[in-house]
Amino acid sequence: MTRDELIQALIPERVRLVSAYQIPDATGMVKLDAMENPYRWPQSLLDDLATRLADCALNRYPDSHADLIRAPLAQWMQIPETLDLLFGNGSDEIIGLLISTLIGTGRSVCAPDPSFVMFQVLANQYSVPFRALPLDSEFDIDVDGWMDGLMTADPALIFVPQPNNPTGNLFSKDRLAQIVESTQALIVIDEAYTAFTDADYLDWAKCYPNVVVMRTLSKVGLAGSRFGMLIGHPEWIVEFDKIRLPYNINAMSQTAVQFALEHASILEEQSGLIRQERTRLSKRLSKRGFSVWHSEANFVVIDCGVHVARDLFEGLKQHQILVKCLDGSHPRLTNTLRLTVGTPDESDVLLSALDQLVSR
Ligand SMILES: Cc1ncc(COP(=O)(O)O)c(C=O)c1O
Repeated sequence: MTRDELIQALIPERVRLVSAYQIPDATGMVKLDAMENPYRWPQSLLDDLATRLADCALNRYPDSHADLIRAPLAQWMQIPETLDLLFGNGSDEIIGLLISTLIGTGRSVCAPDPSFVMFQVLANQYSVPFRALPLDSEFDIDVDGWMDGLMTADPALIFVPQPNNPTGNLFSKDRLAQIVESTQALIVIDEAYTAFTDADYLDWAKCYPNVVVMRTLSKVGLAGSRFGMLIGHPEWIVEFDKIRLPYNINAMSQTAVQFALEHASILEEQSGLIRQERTRLSKRLSKRGFSVWHSEANFVVIDCGVHVARDLFEGLKQHQILVKCLDGSHPRLTNTLRLTVGTPDESDVLLSALDQLVSR
């Protein structure tokens, strides 16, 4: 058999027919496409971190449970004592791990529509049925639509990003409570953007038997470390821990996260700056006639109105600015761009480029 024939025979069609997840090249660009924290740490701290990283025993496997991180993380996030933690190589890994428990069961997974694409991407990869749940005109939970969807899909798992990506809004607490109370599925409240909102659902993981909370350090400045977490009742965590790969958090990441938690006030300060800048950027974009969607996250979505989002996206690239063009990704995101909130200087560069592009 030729290699081509072997690939046809051995790699399932669902894999062959999709493309790998595309990450655009951002070399030399103002990077406002991936909801990263734009701030670096002071040089003295980076020097201290370098020393700590040099001490990592790279010849040894890492601590399988990343035990040194647990107490400082729980303290920083004020995680109730009755809840336990499971760590992932980014929350992406946790999403995959949760969905993989459904392989072969015939049970489905649900998420709002639109929301974070990885829920569906990973469900497809694992051949787990996926069902999108409708949002109303304000991108809030359409309770009747969800009830219908849940009745027919009978999911085992529902992901609810709070706030949602890419729309940036929070779902109403009372609507979410109605869903939680009416389903037997496990609800994963995905608080990836917790640093940029006052909403906090950790208590729900304590009170409701069918709720766990997922978080990540990616948005507060540690995207490069790939560190996410599932927070839930120990009885849930013990089950999911059985399918976690034993050394999924590498030693350098563990050290970097531990170090970052010793300096958590910097993460908080930087998140505070991003929140302030979100307000300033939103106001300036509105003044220019863009319709800016209210956001509780570290990005804002703009509807480009009379301008063409794809042209602005390409034009911004010519100005060495990378944002996310949502046009074409979902019917309700037509002609929109998602702009990660950067530093005030980065916003100014963005605004001045937009000024030039719309005045053409
Ligand atoms: C809602 C949501 N959940 C999870 C993630 C994944 O984050 P991580 O970097 O921890 O894999 C993202 C990333 O953008 C996100 O928007």
